[in-house]
Amino acid sequence: MKILVLHGPNLNMLGRREPEIYGNTTLAEIDAALRERAAAAGAVLLTFQSNHEGELIDLVQTEGWDADGVIINPGALTHYGLALRDALAMLKARIVEVHLSNVYRREPFRHTSVVAPVATGQIAGLGWQGYLLALEWLLLTAEQS
Ligand code: DQA
Repeated sequence: MKILVLHGPNLNMLGRREPEIYGNTTLAEIDAALRERAAAAGAVLLTFQSNHEGELIDLVQTEGWDADGVIINPGALTHYGLALRDALAMLKARIVEVHLSNVYRREPFRHTSVVAPVATGQIAGLGWQGYLLALEWLLLTAEQS
């Protein structure tokens, strides 16, 4: 099983970025927790962060084709990243959109996701553990997909 984990703009700043909203856990710590869980399940897990939409699209195109699952926090691209959404739409993989914060309790511009219509499901507001829950779901349901 191959799982791709994609983080969009500004998520490299986790730990220092508005900790009252996004928490104190760094991206490296999140990726390490995901890697550990995937390894225990015998799954291959790739992680990638970029502040540039085109780089995320490049990775979707090169590594997404044979992925079984994608976990993506598109950051602000969630709300307007149509090219990223189109790239994700090409994939066979099941896609889980993750947000650390509950975007629906925040500014109105965060209430719209252009990625959600091409995702299988979404987790928002559960902090960094939302990524782990997304991975757990992908592992749990791997047999049925
Ligand atoms: C976010 C929510 C987005 O609105 C914001 O632009 C982010 C992070 C989250 O994880 O809560 O960069 O995706």
